Amino acid sequence: MTVHATRATDERFRAAVETLRVPAMGTDAVAPFLYAMLKLVRPQRVLEVGMGYTTPFLASALSEIAEETQVQAHALAAKTRPYLDGGTPLDDKWMYGAPALLAPEFYTSTYRPRLVAVDDLSIPESSSSRVWEVLRELGLADLVTVVNANLRECDRHFPADFTPIDLAWVDAWECLYFFDNFWDLINPDGGLVVMHYLMTYPEGESVLRYLSAQQQMRPGEIEIVNLLEPHKLSQNSLTILRRTSGVVPRKYAKPAARMDYERLRSEAEAQAGAHADPIRG
Ligand SMILES: C[S@@+](CC[C@H](N)C(=O)[O-])C[C@H]1O[C@@H](n2cnc3c(N)ncnc32)[C@H](O)[C@@H]1O
Repeated sequence: MTVHATRATDERFRAAVETLRVPAMGTDAVAPFLYAMLKLVRPQRVLEVGMGYTTPFLASALSEIAEETQVQAHALAAKTRPYLDGGTPLDDKWMYGAPALLAPEFYTSTYRPRLVAVDDLSIPESSSSRVWEVLRELGLADLVTVVNANLRECDRHFPADFTPIDLAWVDAWECLYFFDNFWDLINPDGGLVVMHYLMTYPEGESVLRYLSAQQQMRPGEIEIVNLLEPHKLSQNSLTILRRTSGVVPRKYAKPAARMDYERLRSEAEAQAGAHADPIRG
């Protein structure tokens, strides 16, 4: 029997995740934020350190992206095919026609998401020990690997093809260790690390100063932004790091935002070939 994943907008999802919400963990707004962030940047390999309320939001986003990407890939190939068949150059009608704006390169290979969720179950107040049951109930367990281990030894339990990590969410007081030991595993092509709660207390501010110093020592390799929840006393910030040491240029347009349709054509051709029309083969 196939278990269908429950979408994050469903009432059933809301009810299930509510059982994992621990107000003192401070992730009420963070969890839907991470969900939206994943939907935006579409990472394939996601690591969570510190499980709980956030975990099903991450898993749900990945599951929904996988579904959406599959539908979009076929629609994009169908949109391109008449241009290939007729030997017609791609044009604005191709670009803005449904499904609008899609970059063929993204849709050439299959989107295969995986979430590795690490927790050593060291904090009894955390809902981490109940997460797996909720993931199963919501039909999201298939794309998640739970590693019940300390961060310091978790990487030996990673699935074989789990690096480079496209996005890591660190919610376990180990941000300094994480940066020093896992940064090289983050995708140099724009991989993201999101750290919880480093602002408004001395030790966290020291970590931020350290990250800032690292950024200065490695020009062009790290972008950093801090987001503060100003209405909260604690558990009140996100620090987002983006690794930019190996960014692949994606220049789709020529000056004045004119699309480079000649270049896009070969990518669109490869994408349409990879998603052959099931009727025509
Ligand atoms: C702040 S809670 C996570 C909250 C969760 N993200 C949420 O939204 O409910 C931190 C979790 O990290 C785990 N933890 C703490 N230190 C850890 C470590 N060094 N390695 C692995 N897990 C750790 C704890 O067991 C706890 O479940």
